[in-house]
Amino acid sequence: MTQAAPRLQPVSARPAITADLMERTGLDEPLLTELVHRFYGKVRADAVLGPIFAARIDDWEPHLERMVAFWSSVALMTGRYHGAPVPKHANLPVDWSHFERWLTLFRETAHETCSPEGAEHVIERAERIARSLHIAVQDAGQGAPGAIPNLS
Ligand code: HEM
Repeated sequence: MTQAAPRLQPVSARPAITADLMERTGLDEPLLTELVHRFYGKVRADAVLGPIFAARIDDWEPHLERMVAFWSSVALMTGRYHGAPVPKHANLPVDWSHFERWLTLFRETAHETCSPEGAEHVIERAERIARSLHIAVQDAGQGAPGAIPNLS
């Protein structure tokens, strides 16, 4: 009688990675929920950023839920967010000064909400993503990346 070969099940390392990140940063879903809600409270009240969001978001609840899932994925590697942020930002009427303002409010909120390690963790990631989104905005303003320049 032939013995069936043992089936190797791929085991996700994600829960262990998430647990390790939670321990190292003190971050968890309730904290990220508070961070996101407080941060967008400041954004909405901000003279520069507030109107840009107000013109595009009518219903804030789904946006806030999406942003908690986003931060859960980014900070804790939970894989909860499925989306494509770049196209949502590429055509916004913003330059680096808007991202600087966004980051100032984010850093402030992170320090108010999280442990020092947690704040450093989310701020470092926000800074990196802000730089990529800014490049996407610049590329959109100059035509698609790799597009043939206008030579006439
Ligand atoms: C100048 C600064 C920024 C402005 C004005 C801005 C504005 C917006 C607006 C208006 C939306 C809603 C878009 C829509 O539903 O049509 C949005 C979505 C979003 N933003 Fe930003 N944003 C900024 C920076 C950032 C940064 C730095 C991050 C990440 C660290 C970020 C992450 C996201 C994500 C994940 C979404 C949801 C995209 C989706 O629908 O899945 N944004 N943003």
